[in-house]
Amino acid sequence: MAVNRLPGVVPTPERVLAGEATEVGEVLVPADALQRRVRELGEAISRDYAGRPLLLVGVLKGAVFFLSDLMRFIDIPVELDFMAVASYGSATDSSGVVRILKDLDVAIEGRDILIVEDIVDSGLTLQYLLRNLGSRNPASLEVCALLTKPDRRKVDLPTRYVGFEIPDRFVIGYGLDYDERHRNLPFVAALER
Ligand code: IMP
Ligand code: MG
Repeated sequence: MAVNRLPGVVPTPERVLAGEATEVGEVLVPADALQRRVRELGEAISRDYAGRPLLLVGVLKGAVFFLSDLMRFIDIPVELDFMAVASYGSATDSSGVVRILKDLDVAIEGRDILIVEDIVDSGLTLQYLLRNLGSRNPASLEVCALLTKPDRRKVDLPTRYVGFEIPDRFVIGYGLDYDERHRNLPFVAALER
């Protein structure tokens, strides 16, 4: 039964009836592996940016969960801002046509910027963000992505920090959604359709 594959989550009858629990497939990255890797990334970022005050730019909404965990493992001066973008396309495929829904609150000229993303799929969203933020003349601009699907990449991008490479499957959990559902899962799982 599908409910046996939901470690850490109690699928209430209401959720099962709503068809939610049955969308949760194989767990690809368990919660403890996420925490271990996020700690490693935070430690690497702290080493690499020592002496350079850092601004993390989280991409709403998916990166929020990863970002808030990551930031607690960064032990150098660090500030936080957010961008929200919408990528036209279907629920599971982005088109590369990106619209800014929320821009940064602060100017980034001359600052060290690290974009924090949940997942790099085709790479089109990130390509747009790198071009857009790059045109504002930051001192440096790098990317930290929790997940990447190399088989789906359409454009070559510099991703300095990557948590996990995953196969070409649509995933949910730890911030990642399918039609806004399942962000709250404490692990990353494949979407079951
Ligand atoms: P890209 O522009 O194709 O690289 O898509 C990037 C955005 O699409 C990510 O920031 C996610 O919001 C979303 N996305 C891509 N793949 C997945 C997935 O497997 N699960 C959930 N969201 C995804
Ligand atoms: Mg999304």
